[in-house]
Amino acid sequence: MKHVFVQGSSPAAPTFVMFHGTGGNEHDLLPIAEMISPGSSVLGLRGNVLENGMPRFFRRLTEGVFDEQDLIARTDEVKAYLDEAAKEYGFDRGSLIAVGYSNGANIIASLLFHYASAVKGAILFHPMVPRRGIELPASPGLPVFIGAGTNDPLVRSAESEELTGLLEKAGAAVTLHWGHQGHQLSRSEVEAAQAWYKEHF
Ligand code: MLT
Repeated sequence: MKHVFVQGSSPAAPTFVMFHGTGGNEHDLLPIAEMISPGSSVLGLRGNVLENGMPRFFRRLTEGVFDEQDLIARTDEVKAYLDEAAKEYGFDRGSLIAVGYSNGANIIASLLFHYASAVKGAILFHPMVPRRGIELPASPGLPVFIGAGTNDPLVRSAESEELTGLLEKAGAAVTLHWGHQGHQLSRSEVEAAQAWYKEHF
């Protein structure tokens, strides 16, 4: 996958892997990683799918309606790439914090829906429920932060609560943070994620 890797100054700190929103790229969320954990190494990924020239992590049929087969295949592809990148860059595969916004948060949610121990922690800004009707792998105690919006026009509050419930049922320790800035990635929710990270890692 197209990516950027930035070596951090604290070898013991978890490595961050960043997943952009639709139309973004591998550099978009590097400043967010820097805010949350300044010493961490950071892997920024670019989604392999193009929608009218805009990179994404999986195909969709229309807004909010996912191409499920592609989602499953791309989730597998990302998982395999993380294993490969850990070897290439020499970071601890078992100590990875995934951070994503919108489409990027959705592919991370899909990773959590399909693989146990895919990551050590996850920060999802404005995620949706990636799939319904499947049994999630057990993720006992997995720390997950969800930044949701009371007035997010793309993700209804009920869907944010549904995702929280599904992850909790799988054993994850979910912190659901409510903002009021629509679908935007706001500074206040990044600060909330930063506080959450300090508490858990
Ligand atoms: C998605 O397709 O993943 C969601 O609709 C979020 C977006 O990228 O707009």
